[in-house]
Amino acid sequence: MDYSQFRRPRRLRRNPIIRAMVAQTSLSADRMIQPYFVGQNQPAPFPIPGMPGILRESPDQLRRSIAADLKLGIKRIMLFGVTDHKSPGAESSYADDNPVLVATRALRKEFGFDLFISADVCLCAYTDSGHCGVIRGTEIDNDASLAVLARMAVKLAEAGVDWVAPSDMMDGRVGAIRQALDAAGFTGTGILAYTAKYASSYYGPFRGAAESAPQHGDRKSYQMDWRNRREARVEAQLDLDEGADVIMVKPALSYLDIIADLAESTDVPIAAYNVSGEYTAVKLLAKEGFAAERDLVLENLTAITRAGASIILTYHLRDILREKWLS
Ligand code: PBG
Ligand code: ZN
Repeated sequence: MDYSQFRRPRRLRRNPIIRAMVAQTSLSADRMIQPYFVGQNQPAPFPIPGMPGILRESPDQLRRSIAADLKLGIKRIMLFGVTDHKSPGAESSYADDNPVLVATRALRKEFGFDLFISADVCLCAYTDSGHCGVIRGTEIDNDASLAVLARMAVKLAEAGVDWVAPSDMMDGRVGAIRQALDAAGFTGTGILAYTAKYASSYYGPFRGAAESAPQHGDRKSYQMDWRNRREARVEAQLDLDEGADVIMVKPALSYLDIIADLAESTDVPIAAYNVSGEYTAVKLLAKEGFAAERDLVLENLTAITRAGASIILTYHLRDILREKWLS
């Protein structure tokens, strides 16, 4: 007998009803988080260059946008603060008028626990250097940065966030934040750690949004080197030992091997950040008519899910729900 044509994989691709039955991956908005930028001196919404549909807003404008987004079905958000009060010690990161704190208090009051609120913990929007840690002499002072990050995290918990998400990549930050939260009584506040955050060129549009570009040098002494794969496991081990609830890989699309490794080598949920430059790339391809935006978005988010991520932070979420791309 000729076995070469005995197995025919195309039988399972024959029509949509079969394909839907055998699909191994599906997407759900319940696993997606929409990022938002909240500014301090923000009289009018500022459209982020290169990111159509994404704005930087005042706390009050944000509250209105989120009310509309909740109706669409966006129930999970990540907040990033932007301020021009920048200083060597990043004091505005934990000041009472930090726009993320102001926004969080208002959101929690208005929407209660219908809205899941997470907030970025990092110093780059608050240091005059634009670096993610405080600087002593010519170098980042890792351990001095931990105290500031922990202080910021406790203020966020007080304001009512569900999760804090440290993105600074200082060594020991998850442990410092966990200890500070617990000492202040916030044992229920979760930590979504940016565990494997690479020094990527795909953050370009974000830095315009957050006004957080480094004023000198780059982030390569703290963000990971993209030549390294196994190092992500070291970071994951540390973050889990220090108390992380969820670990994240960032960016997502060029790092699917890292997502797959961590999904296989750990037992916690894996998040992936579909970052600003990845969003811009899709928008540009679609705008130039090289592909349909829906198809690009679903292919990208499915790939991230297929690699092993169960949670995705993505700027596409609003379009997905508005255009009903998942149904
Ligand atoms: C700040 C931070 C960055 C992003 C998330 N948190 C930028 C950076 O590290 O320079 C990038 C997010 C995106 O590009 O969408 N530490
Ligand atoms: Zn930062």
